[in-house]
Amino acid sequence: MCGIVGYIGFRKADQVVISSLKRLEYRGYDSWGIAVKHNNKIMLVKRVGAISEDKMHEMAEGNIGIGHTRWATHGKPSEFNAHPHTDCSGEIAVVHNGIISNFQSLKEELEKKGHKFKSETDTEVISHLIEEFYRGDLKDAVSKTIDVLRGSYAIVVMHARKEELVAVRYKSPLVLGIGDEEWIIASDVPAILDYTSRVIYLEDGDVVSLTKEGFEIWKGNERVERKIETIPWSIEDAEKGGYDHFMLKEIHETPRVIEDTLFEYISEGVDIDVSFSAGISEIIFIACGTSYHASLVGKYLIEKLTGIPARVEFASEFIYNQPPMSRSLVISITQSGETADTLEAMRIAKKHGARVLAIVNVLGSTATRIADHVLYTRAGPEISVAATKSFIAQLVILYLIALKLSRLSRSEIERLAEELRVMPELVRKVLEQEGKIEQIAGKLAGYENMMYIGRGIGVPIAMEGALKMKEISYIHAEAYPAGELKHGPFALLGKNTPVIASLVPDETYEIMLSNIKEVKARESLVIAVADEHDSEIEKYVDFVIRVPKTDSIFTAITHSVALQLLAYYTARERGCEIDKPRNLAKSVTVE
Ligand code: F6R
Repeated sequence: MCGIVGYIGFRKADQVVISSLKRLEYRGYDSWGIAVKHNNKIMLVKRVGAISEDKMHEMAEGNIGIGHTRWATHGKPSEFNAHPHTDCSGEIAVVHNGIISNFQSLKEELEKKGHKFKSETDTEVISHLIEEFYRGDLKDAVSKTIDVLRGSYAIVVMHARKEELVAVRYKSPLVLGIGDEEWIIASDVPAILDYTSRVIYLEDGDVVSLTKEGFEIWKGNERVERKIETIPWSIEDAEKGGYDHFMLKEIHETPRVIEDTLFEYISEGVDIDVSFSAGISEIIFIACGTSYHASLVGKYLIEKLTGIPARVEFASEFIYNQPPMSRSLVISITQSGETADTLEAMRIAKKHGARVLAIVNVLGSTATRIADHVLYTRAGPEISVAATKSFIAQLVILYLIALKLSRLSRSEIERLAEELRVMPELVRKVLEQEGKIEQIAGKLAGYENMMYIGRGIGVPIAMEGALKMKEISYIHAEAYPAGELKHGPFALLGKNTPVIASLVPDETYEIMLSNIKEVKARESLVIAVADEHDSEIEKYVDFVIRVPKTDSIFTAITHSVALQLLAYYTARERGCEIDKPRNLAKSVTVE
């Protein structure tokens, strides 16, 4: 998730844009760039790495400028791929957040018309399209451009010969800050707050024209008015989007993350390229921690939907177990792409001649360079140590792979793909349960031990739920297949050990109810995560967290988001330092 800024007013634009981009650094980025208009020319500076002011003297006195921090998606981190992107004449400069899903076909058409591209990005088509449509009216050219774009975007555009910035928003946030004779537009509020706290949150389809005289907002051919709001937050609050912790903000970003990840790989049907699977005899997942739990869901899906044998290995144990064969597909799942154990396991897999596919969140990370094939999750930077939205994005990719390789009927695959498409909406409904989950967390915060149980796909859900709980609340939380309780863990149950049960509406449901009855007989407090229409469950347990109905395979998403919230509110009630739990690091680069 990149950051964008545009400034028009009386100050030196380079200084404003740089200082505002620095306010967005907390989101993570790998490269950056700014453009300032001066003497009817666009002055550009682009760099890989951290923001510095080394070349700023070249920016001269201009007071119209745009800037961007890039978290690479299409194309590696490089100066060519960094924004702003220009057209052939070098007179139009563009910064963009989001994804242009039809950029490939647009690029081919533009190349046929003689446009020369300098980057691998989807964004560069925007500057060339504006050039195609430009007849002296920048707003008009931008409006015509967005008519042919598909995807999500927040865009800010400048022209060397215009005293104007034009910005547009569609499914990617954009906020207009209104100062005294100066205007600043950005993807996030922290970039604005040093200059003004009066803002307009733009709506999808809004096109804004900013000049030194003022601003106009247009929707299609109509001028529209938008409410001016006053931001009550400090900069630090604003970085967290008004949430108390990054973890909570990131959980709330999940619907958008699912949309962005689906956008990449699903259009008419499931478009994910699975050529990496040709001729394989087995799939071996390797990963650590939360990514290991995503792998367990992956194994479940692969075996259930495709019939291909699959196993999961802790990356750190891979070397001690049955090695892969040349016809094995090794799928390595890693948010950071830098986890030392996972990287080592990938190298071992390659030594054995296996094909390696990496599912990674960070573009250009080491895992992407070792792997033969890479699929990116579109979770954006994850700042809280506890993985939340990136886990759900990993699951989305695994659903897509399993559906693509599935031997189900075409209509059944379409039905499941349709359910996956509505998942952002279902997750929003889970997030609406937040108040109820917070109340339940209040009941749990005083315990020192907990047990999570499930069956089938409910087992990895329970394992991930327990991991979230232990790492941020410091409560000892174990996860077991419900059928295993009798073989030992029952000895731990009683009044002091609450049990959190994931009830999946499939063949495991009835037997889970029996297991819950056995648990209740030991006087444990029981909390169930269950379907919104489940009228039985209330009779058996103390509290129920309701999740919207979906096909049982997708409960890994709905239940996990509910359990992330449960862990979050329990840790908060205990006063824990949620975003940076003791002894843990976001990226584990030692074996
Ligand atoms: C837990 C968590 C860790 C990571 C693990 C692997 O919330 O974040 O368990 O999942 O360290 O990290 P990646 O996915 O970056 O390889």
